[in-house]
Amino acid sequence: MTNIIYFGDNLPILRRLPDKSVDLIYIDPPFNTGKVQAHKRLKTVRDDQGDRIGFGENSYRTEVLSELAYADAFSDYEAFLLPRMQEAHRLLKDSGSLYFHIDYREVHYCKILLDQVFGRENFLNEIIWAYDFGGRARDKWPAKHDNILYYVRDRRNYIFNRDAIGREPYLAPGLVGKDKAERGKLPTDTWWHTIVGTNSREKTGYPTQKPVAILERILRASSNPDDLVLDFFAGSGTTGQACLNLGRRFILIDNNPQALETMRRRFAGIPDIQWELEPTR
Ligand SMILES: C[S@@+](CC[C@H](N)C(=O)[O-])C[C@H]1O[C@@H](n2cnc3c(N)ncnc32)[C@H](O)[C@@H]1O
Repeated sequence: MTNIIYFGDNLPILRRLPDKSVDLIYIDPPFNTGKVQAHKRLKTVRDDQGDRIGFGENSYRTEVLSELAYADAFSDYEAFLLPRMQEAHRLLKDSGSLYFHIDYREVHYCKILLDQVFGRENFLNEIIWAYDFGGRARDKWPAKHDNILYYVRDRRNYIFNRDAIGREPYLAPGLVGKDKAERGKLPTDTWWHTIVGTNSREKTGYPTQKPVAILERILRASSNPDDLVLDFFAGSGTTGQACLNLGRRFILIDNNPQALETMRRRFAGIPDIQWELEPTR
């Protein structure tokens, strides 16, 4: 069983892979937040409490019009994402699935983009991964969840191994009867799981590392042993680790040398990994 790790921009690498060759894609792309600053629109308004004196000796302050900045950021992000999502769709087998990991700031735009590529009818779930860890905002509701959009290539024919998914306790076991309470329930679309903790054994030091248990749940539900799983924003290689744990094959891609270094350490001593480290054009 050969697994492959590529170093380089994912788009040209994806374009070289054959049609309908992958069973499952999980991706956790970065946000194009830098562009928000680049496209900031400013407006100067009179304000007695303003921080500077201007025309007519009046006091003024500067207001940031964030709406335009946001829209600009999105149009860049869409241009980055769209061709990669078209490749993802081309690469999936007819029975294949996509899990797209994002957060509350971009999820609505990504949903619209993915509806266009995969078809709205092939959208099955928005999974909420809820955690309760780290710093808390004091001026709004602390944001403590990520969103995972789950699409299939064809909703009439896809893999969903409900019996392979670990069951969990009912919140109110007294309401469902003894047998059901003992068996537990199939997880819903809201998954409670802590982030990778500072002292956790799985911690690699890569800043955006996701918990391997989240990936294992996805793999159990939407792939079978020996299936091929693709993650083209691989980071620390969490998807690869879950594949090794569950007997799936993987292709991982990342263009950050630190991600490659992290995966080198994480997979040290694992045979059957082919490292494609020459950047592709
Ligand atoms: C949010 S992180 C993924 C973290 C990963 N899920 C984990 O558990 O470690 C996103 C990754 O995408 C990579 N990336 C961003 N743009 C890329 C591109 N055009 N081609 C390949 N990788 C890219 C970044 O280097 C980063 O490692």
